[in-house]
Amino acid sequence: MDGQKNGSNSLYEAIGGADTVSRLVQAFYPKVQADPSIGPLFPEDIDPVMEKQTLFLTQFFGGPPLYSDRYGHPMMRARHLPFPITPERAEAWLSCMKRALAEVGLDQQLQYAVLERLKGPAHHFVNTDE
Ligand code: HEM
Repeated sequence: MDGQKNGSNSLYEAIGGADTVSRLVQAFYPKVQADPSIGPLFPEDIDPVMEKQTLFLTQFFGGPPLYSDRYGHPMMRARHLPFPITPERAEAWLSCMKRALAEVGLDQQLQYAVLERLKGPAHHFVNTDE
């Protein structure tokens, strides 16, 4: 799965680069852990997940390919197959992300752009109805 192209037009640059991605991930995972629908899918030690997500979102938004450099092809849908991802859980994930984007204080248009960019993958990772 490719992010936007690299360079000054990328969503990565527009949102403020590494600092914003890092703050977004920091804001996102406490919400994920507190969510009754998706929290239990995640390990208690969330730090490694946060680290991977930081690398992945950097590349997904069009920044440097940090995730692929370390872990190879993202194959994100395949990496999510061990976890039962229902449509409800995809919505819960997006809801956590929406609130994290607001908390980070991006301007409204960028919040919207980021969320729109993540909706496709979130629904694409759905792998079960129940
Ligand atoms: C649709 C709802 C989603 C759920 C319920 C979900 C859940 C999970 C879970 C349980 C893990 C594994 C944690 C572990 O290491 O044990 C994971 C890993 C990960 N997720 Fe998601 N996820 C969702 C959507 C997304 C989306 C939309 C993205 C990014 C576009 C994403 C990016 C990642 C990344 C980068 C990892 C780490 C992969 C690795 O192990 O290298 N996830 N997710």
